[in-house]
Amino acid sequence: MTEPYLRVEKISKKFGPFIALNGVDLEVHAGEVHALLGDNGAGKSTLIKTLAGVHQPTSGRLYIEGKPVSFRSPRDASDAGIGTVYQDLAVNPLMSVTRNFFMGRELKGPLGTLRMKEMDQIAHDEMLKIGIDFRDPTQAVGTMSGGQRQTLAIARAIYFGARVLILDEPTSALGQKQQMEVLKTIKRVKKRGDIAIIFITHNEIHSRLVGDRFTFLALGQVIGAGRSEEIDDEEMRRLMSGGTEMGDLAGELAAI
Ligand SMILES: Nc1ncnc2c1ncn2[C@@H]1O[C@H](COP(=O)(O)OP(=O)(O)OP(=O)(O)O)[C@@H](O)[C@H]1O
Ligand SMILES: [Mg+2]
Repeated sequence: MTEPYLRVEKISKKFGPFIALNGVDLEVHAGEVHALLGDNGAGKSTLIKTLAGVHQPTSGRLYIEGKPVSFRSPRDASDAGIGTVYQDLAVNPLMSVTRNFFMGRELKGPLGTLRMKEMDQIAHDEMLKIGIDFRDPTQAVGTMSGGQRQTLAIARAIYFGARVLILDEPTSALGQKQQMEVLKTIKRVKKRGDIAIIFITHNEIHSRLVGDRFTFLALGQVIGAGRSEEIDDEEMRRLMSGGTEMGDLAGELAAI
């Protein structure tokens, strides 16, 4: 058994008296997708914000390649190779693909001039590596499809050093064809073998298509976890509904 790239050990997070996370364990290996599932309010975003340095955990530890780490800011986490792609993607639709790719980290010449040609080439090549051949990166991001924008945000995170790529619901706002494009991008990143991916989703089919491991959260606690082959579809449905039997829910539905 190899050392996971990132290990989360008994992480808890309180907001005042409210316990948003309660003793959560999770591990993610390079070259694997760890799907993080759970209903609204389960604690998924709170968990990734503690990995991304936005929140400090109340207790528990994080390890990268076996070494304990703690992040006091998002900058600390990104320096340690944690790259987070939030749902809003932090892209500006009016600016070019290249300018978005390098936002705040532009390549500059000796007199402070932007090395635009070089940046265009890099933005194009990095996106091509994970699946889109967007020929003219001088175009505005507004001309890209939703799936292409996800790919831009993912390529950018990887280019700037992400070894753990956290994707918060990357498929939820997209149509079906676009969703499949994003899943293809995730698979290509996984195939590189050097990046560990945490994929947050509400969609059990999507998690099945790309996930190697699953963790199910409900009310801040892990209610189930395992490798894909250890969790059958029935178990998956039970865990997706917060650990209650689907039969109970169907009964409640019928009673209304
Ligand atoms: N900054 C905060 N202060 C107080 N409570 C918070 C804060 N952030 C989150 N919570 C609470 O923690 C719980 C978990 O929220 P979180 O956003 O992590 O859930 P989630 O699993 O990401 O849900 P969703 O699927 O809706 O995105 C919720 O009850 C939420 O109200
Ligand atoms: Mg959330």
